[in-house]
Amino acid sequence: MGSAAGRLWRRWVDAPKAVCLLTGVVIGVAALGAAAWGTVLSGAFDMAASVPHGRLAYRILDTVKLHSVRRHARGIRVPARFTADEMRAGFRLYDAHCVTCHGGPGIAPAPLSYGLNPPPPYLINSPDRWRPNELYWIIRNGEKMTAMPAWKGRLSAREAWNLVAFIEALRSLDYPGYLAMRQAEPPPPTDPSPAPPTP
Ligand code: HEC
Repeated sequence: MGSAAGRLWRRWVDAPKAVCLLTGVVIGVAALGAAAWGTVLSGAFDMAASVPHGRLAYRILDTVKLHSVRRHARGIRVPARFTADEMRAGFRLYDAHCVTCHGGPGIAPAPLSYGLNPPPPYLINSPDRWRPNELYWIIRNGEKMTAMPAWKGRLSAREAWNLVAFIEALRSLDYPGYLAMRQAEPPPPTDPSPAPPTP
């Protein structure tokens, strides 16, 4: 091998171990990247919402969500307490905008929500997972790669807090209680006008 290729080979063999290792790592990473990109371009990934994510994908998405929400909601100041009026105002908004997807105590979500992936959860246990500032952040900003909409443009900051007050009270509400609130608190006749922009 007197050629340039031969010289290169001899250099490679003589090179210190660290350089060999580094070159190997770079080639390995590039090969992995090319393989990943090739998989993307091949169309092998199934975009169908009707096919659930694999367990690993769920795990990764859930972990990303947990840490992202925790971080972004840091520093949001929570009102000292919620009043019964705020909870009732939250109920009206929930019944108008959220029950379709999330259902309520003894109330099934609308059929459209069964086709969503990930499916919208019942929110009764959400206060165990999320602190009030985190629930507020989720409601205001929605969640990427899910059907959870951002409500910032539709509902004011005050209204988002009222929804948090209602979600926090959800577990003490049963089916008759929900229906009774519905009768006592009929939804507003028309959609509320867009909220003024608040951070
Ligand atoms: C179009 C359907 C849809 C509507 C309408 C909707 N959501 Fe959601 N929401 C979702 C989906 C889907 C998720 C789950 C995302 C996931 O699994 O990460 C979600 C997640 C949430 C969560 C986090 C729950 C948890 O325990 O992780 C909260 C809180 C929430 N929504 C509140 C609301 C409120 C309040 C409203 C009404 C103002 C609302 N959502 C309206 C689809 C919807």
